[in-house]
Amino acid sequence: MTTTQFQETGYRLFPQFLSPAETERLSAMVRDRQEKLQAVAAKAKMNLAYHVVNGHELRQSFPDFFELAAGRLLEIATEQAGLPLELMRDPKRAVRIQHYRRKSEGFLWHLDGGEYGALLTLDNTNHGVTEVLSPRLSRWLKPAPYLLFPFQGVLARMRTVKIAAGAGDLLILHGGKVIHRGLIQQDEGERTLLAVSYDRVGKKTSRVWEWIARRLNY
Ligand SMILES: [Fe+2]
Repeated sequence: MTTTQFQETGYRLFPQFLSPAETERLSAMVRDRQEKLQAVAAKAKMNLAYHVVNGHELRQSFPDFFELAAGRLLEIATEQAGLPLELMRDPKRAVRIQHYRRKSEGFLWHLDGGEYGALLTLDNTNHGVTEVLSPRLSRWLKPAPYLLFPFQGVLARMRTVKIAAGAGDLLILHGGKVIHRGLIQQDEGERTLLAVSYDRVGKKTSRVWEWIARRLNY
């Protein structure tokens, strides 16, 4: 059996997954309904600030985004994973719009609660990147993903790949396996993403993990 790039690296970027016209249409929807973006505050070194439309609100106010998440994005994530996937069962976290406005915003190093993720970039004028560790390094560090928080500085000095996704690009990430973070590189501009979490069909979830994840999220 041949190993795919996705299996080797834990990610795959699909440049221009959406046409410029489609990207602009979705991006304009977010701009027109800015008030739906809810501010998430930074909590004592546990997370950085950002803005979010959670899954409940997204289903109500951005049905086109939900349709993409449950349709074309699921299809391509399934193809990369090589397994049947479904949206993560927690409807609030399964689909989100994430929005970053300055360098102090972003996501610290972490593993996702969902096994696989789709990050569809709508805007990225502040040169935001998704930075990933290799699957091998991630495996070494995996035993206590949420205990990684004190070691953010150490992780930043390891060998990483910075994936710069532009407007319309789709990143499929094995987010439950490769440790990653969201890094904004300048104060001007903005980064807006549709973020979707998928799990294997029939996956059993750990209650403790779910409890922690819900507290660390918004
Ligand atoms: Fe993530």
